[in-house]
Amino acid sequence: MNLYIDTADRDRIADAVALGVVDGVTTNPSIVAEAGLEYREAVTAIADLVEGPVFAQVVADDVDGMVREARGYQEWADDVVAKIPATRQGFEALARLREAGVPAGTTVVFSVEQAVLAAKNDASFVAPYVGRLDDAGEDGVETVRRIQSMYDTYGFETDVLAASIRNTTQAVALYEAGVDAVTLSPDVLYDHVPHPKTDEGVAGFAAAWGDRGSPLEE
Ligand code: E4P
Repeated sequence: MNLYIDTADRDRIADAVALGVVDGVTTNPSIVAEAGLEYREAVTAIADLVEGPVFAQVVADDVDGMVREARGYQEWADDVVAKIPATRQGFEALARLREAGVPAGTTVVFSVEQAVLAAKNDASFVAPYVGRLDDAGEDGVETVRRIQSMYDTYGFETDVLAASIRNTTQAVALYEAGVDAVTLSPDVLYDHVPHPKTDEGVAGFAAAWGDRGSPLEE
């Protein structure tokens, strides 16, 4: 399972990478704009911080523009994967990128039908938006589970990359469903850490040890 972090904030990426669990970074135009960066500046900075792919989304909405941007992104860093929205133009762009050997996948995905088209197009990933599906009154985790199950049944090689994850309850359900990859905001990633019994246990050990200092200096 790959765990990506969904941000363009360099400090937060560096902090998350230090945890040793980050396989790459996902971005989108909102995230990059929010960080106050140019897209190229964001991608090159992120590529310096992580070993693994940097996912960069096209902003054009026409086929030629998407293809041009996805190809251009490849010049920015070694391991850039283009994110192409699941529109009719997006699938056509994906087909052209596949022909050209440009790494690309399908994003802004809300249905099993869209996921079939992505896999038939040999998309490197498909990114269903869990939180936004829930916002729309659907069951985001269940949609991911259905996509993953369908991919496993057919043996499609496209990775299911669950996105728009709002909390650890959704994340855990996705892990239990055996999802190929998740992308987490730094907040949701750090929410994986605390447990009251861990705090209690650590405090208990510290109290028992008292002021004896480091075992290396006994
Ligand atoms: C995925 O790659 C997207 O950038 C992201 O997860 C979208 O999440 P949002 O619904 O919080 O914008």
